[in-house]
Amino acid sequence: MNTSTTSKNKQSPSDTFTLTDNSTGQSWDLPSRTGTMGNRLIDIRGLYNSTGVLTYDPGFTSTGSCKSNITFIDGEEGILLHRGYPIDVLAKDSDYMETCYLLLYGELPTPEEKFSFDSDIRNHTLLHEQLISFYKGFMRGAHPMAIMVGVVGALSAFYHDRTDITDPDQRQLAAHRLIAKMPTIGAYAFKYSQGLPFPMPRNEYSYSENLLQMMFSVPSEDYKINPILARAIDRILVLHADHEQNASTSTVRLAGSSGANPYACIASGIASLWGPAHGGANEAVLKMLAEIGTKKRVGEYIKKAQDKNDNFRLMGFGHRVYKNHDPRAIVMRETCYEVLDVYVLGIEDPQLELAMELEKIALEDDYFVEKKLYPNVDFYSGIILKALGFPTSMFTVMFAIGRTVGWISHWKEMLKDEHQKIGRPRQLYLGEKAREFVPLDKRGHTEDKTSWSWFWGNK
Ligand code: CMC
Repeated sequence: MNTSTTSKNKQSPSDTFTLTDNSTGQSWDLPSRTGTMGNRLIDIRGLYNSTGVLTYDPGFTSTGSCKSNITFIDGEEGILLHRGYPIDVLAKDSDYMETCYLLLYGELPTPEEKFSFDSDIRNHTLLHEQLISFYKGFMRGAHPMAIMVGVVGALSAFYHDRTDITDPDQRQLAAHRLIAKMPTIGAYAFKYSQGLPFPMPRNEYSYSENLLQMMFSVPSEDYKINPILARAIDRILVLHADHEQNASTSTVRLAGSSGANPYACIASGIASLWGPAHGGANEAVLKMLAEIGTKKRVGEYIKKAQDKNDNFRLMGFGHRVYKNHDPRAIVMRETCYEVLDVYVLGIEDPQLELAMELEKIALEDDYFVEKKLYPNVDFYSGIILKALGFPTSMFTVMFAIGRTVGWISHWKEMLKDEHQKIGRPRQLYLGEKAREFVPLDKRGHTEDKTSWSWFWGNK
């Protein structure tokens, strides 16, 4: 018997997939959905109600968690489009403010819209003095990403009563505030670690110029903006602006699905981004290069990365979706070579030469070629940021600044989605079945009373 899982959404048989329970022979037709581009998806929303079974997909490798109009990726072809515009075109012909507008509002701005958006962002760059006092609570050596999670989360305490997420104007205000304040929050995390005073944001500067100014200026000297550096920063921000349903964006959507405060949701995205498998990879690339040390040891580390018994991975290589060149990495690589041009910056760094050697060897190595492991955006961004003078610990902060617009665009889209529900995945339970409680005085004794290894395992 074929039982359609959706009665309303009648599709022709060729649009459906049939699921058969081979233990009973019972079958169900599952509808499929096709977007404007990309893979077909099996719509399993009615699956549990009709069949009583759940799906199992750790890491969501085969699961579309939402519908979205923002970003499209074709990982096999190496394509990334924001609202239909290719990333390389945006990186070369547009700028970060325009890309922010595009992601948030769906269209490129007119000159007037761009001016008004840009002005509004410039007007929200200052931090409340009470928020600035939060920095003093952190150790000077605290990782700037730890400070970001704390300070951005704390924004929710400053604006919570005034943030009604059902009001589009208040949603917009929260979005603009977040985009505007992130460079200030990030730059202050760096200044705090250095024991240096916090420079005020300057409204005459563009977004990227202001970021550079707040990072590198000191009150005792005039700071001159280098336009090549400002352009490189702007491009880095464009290349990080959004990337579909990645771990941190999905985290923001999941946090936001309960109706949580937007500033707290973005703090959750920052936490997720920090890990070395995601945005923390740019910092991990530089740590890896330091560990490899010299060009002579590149071969040894390429072998380590292939050894199943060794946890080592080449950081900055591979991607869940891209099985072809990461299109962001192609532009980032060009920018990287531009920035590294010794005639521009006068930089000669053996670690950067080592990175280029590693890139060359990995691109020719059978293991990396067969598994389609190409350098990703984080491989080159770390190298550029190092050349620009950013400390390694600030690399992921730069990613977070650029990605904030993507997170907030997805948060905004989610709140307006008629299919939106609180995110609540299920599980495959492998624990104990229901059993009887034994009172403490009736339980046996452990031999080693100090170690928790029985709980945490030996690794
Ligand atoms: N070095 C060595 N082997 C690798 C690497 C690597 N960097 N990446 C993947 N592999 C191997 C992996 O061992 C596995 O081999 P096998 O099939 O024999 O078990 C195969 O390739 C597939 O890897 P996976 O872990 O199943 O793939 P995934 O989609 O779950 O992971 C990834 C994607 C990005 C987490 C992974 O490639 C990785 O850890 N890369 C290094 C960290 C990194 O650069 N992350 C930044 C990603 S780009 C920025 C962003 O958008 O977040």
